[in-house]
Amino acid sequence: MRSEKKGVGVIGIGYVGLVTGTCLAELGHHVICMDIDAEKIAQLGEGEVPIYEPGLPELLEKNQERMIFTTSLEDVFEDCEIVYIAVDTPPTFTGDADLSRVFQVMSALPGLSTDDHIMVMKSTVPVGTGNKISAELARLETGNIDYISNPEFLREGSALGDFMEPDRIVIGSRNQEAGDKVAALYEKLEAPVVRTNIPTAEMIKYASNAFLATKISFINEIANVCEEVGADVTIVADGMGLDKRIGPHFLNAGIGFGGSCFPKDVTALKQIAGNTGYHFQLLNAVIEVNELQKRRVVNKLRKHLGPLTDKTIALLGLAFKPNTSDLREASSIVLASRLMGDGAYVKAYDPVAIPYAAKAVRGVLLCDDLLSAVEGCDAVVLVTEWDEFAELPLEKMKKIMNNPLIIDGRNFLDPQQVRAAGFTYEGIGR
Ligand code: UDX
Repeated sequence: MRSEKKGVGVIGIGYVGLVTGTCLAELGHHVICMDIDAEKIAQLGEGEVPIYEPGLPELLEKNQERMIFTTSLEDVFEDCEIVYIAVDTPPTFTGDADLSRVFQVMSALPGLSTDDHIMVMKSTVPVGTGNKISAELARLETGNIDYISNPEFLREGSALGDFMEPDRIVIGSRNQEAGDKVAALYEKLEAPVVRTNIPTAEMIKYASNAFLATKISFINEIANVCEEVGADVTIVADGMGLDKRIGPHFLNAGIGFGGSCFPKDVTALKQIAGNTGYHFQLLNAVIEVNELQKRRVVNKLRKHLGPLTDKTIALLGLAFKPNTSDLREASSIVLASRLMGDGAYVKAYDPVAIPYAAKAVRGVLLCDDLLSAVEGCDAVVLVTEWDEFAELPLEKMKKIMNNPLIIDGRNFLDPQQVRAAGFTYEGIGR
């Protein structure tokens, strides 16, 4: 018989951990959130949310009675039968996932009262990790700990909706009863539950992200060809998306994908395959297309402006996508550094990411509002499709810009409207 422990533990209160903990509390569970960062835990204890995610502060406040924040691993194992692991697994220099934080948790287990527990892996770990950890758990002198793979499919900016209304819940287990207990935590959610073994669950996560990244690189290549043959990729994508086998999502051409997941996971899957001796050709192309796509804007600017030396370019948006302050692997970083490499001055405005941007885009003049960013510029590049940019103050912009050129890196603007305001407009593949 399993113990009387009532709570659900979450170890690693980064982005995934905090969203998972808060949403589990919203589902009615008592959640103990643990992180080694004492400052962060103190902040959260006072109701301050250290990340930008729409709706999260409100949901945290609503569920505060069911949530405890601690730095003690002991508390978690004392009070929780089911313990989620959501520590980060950043890429190493080889492109493999760095599992040191996962193993740090493992190494602390022998000192704890781990009688009957279920460890649920939320972090994305290479296929095979779960079986390795299960073997290690069996070897360590701990009580009985079952291991479950339960990958997350959370998008930044819509993570709460993704958790509460998921397309599917994936549970990989060896022990049916342990899997049932984890599945029961989600019983209020209406979603298909895929029950499988651990490596299959791990692979579902990588294969999903790699497929989505492939869709993006594919449509970006179509866009590049569209430019040569006079076709419009936005309508091509609409036409393709109506085919149910293709579907309308993730077919927005632009200046490449970024973020903390796609680039890391696609590279990791390539390595996972490589480590088995398999050369995953398609993924190499997906990665390369994405790298080149970030740089294509530079050529578009050169085509209109000639050499970029001493030209001033404004970037609208720095975050890797709208509704997040996250700059990890953002296309803006590569673009800004390419432009500065060509001798251009770069200014930038982002509705949310400016306070976090100084280190990521060193040398870029960060502005507090859109008009200060575009003042005196030879061109504007729309990098992130924030709602705020849907209705640009075109007349005011034209008056204060040096040259009326807009490169729309996300095909977000209405070309006719922009041209009618006296601008030269260029999108991606249209
Ligand atoms: C992604 C996955 O969607 C999520 O399931 C996983 O758990 C984590 O990684 P996220 O990184 O938050 O989520 O971003 P997402 O909304 O998927 O976008 C990723 C990148 O792709 C962004 O840079 C976005 O601009 C780009 N993108 C997306 C395109 O360029 N075109 C598209 O059609 C869609």
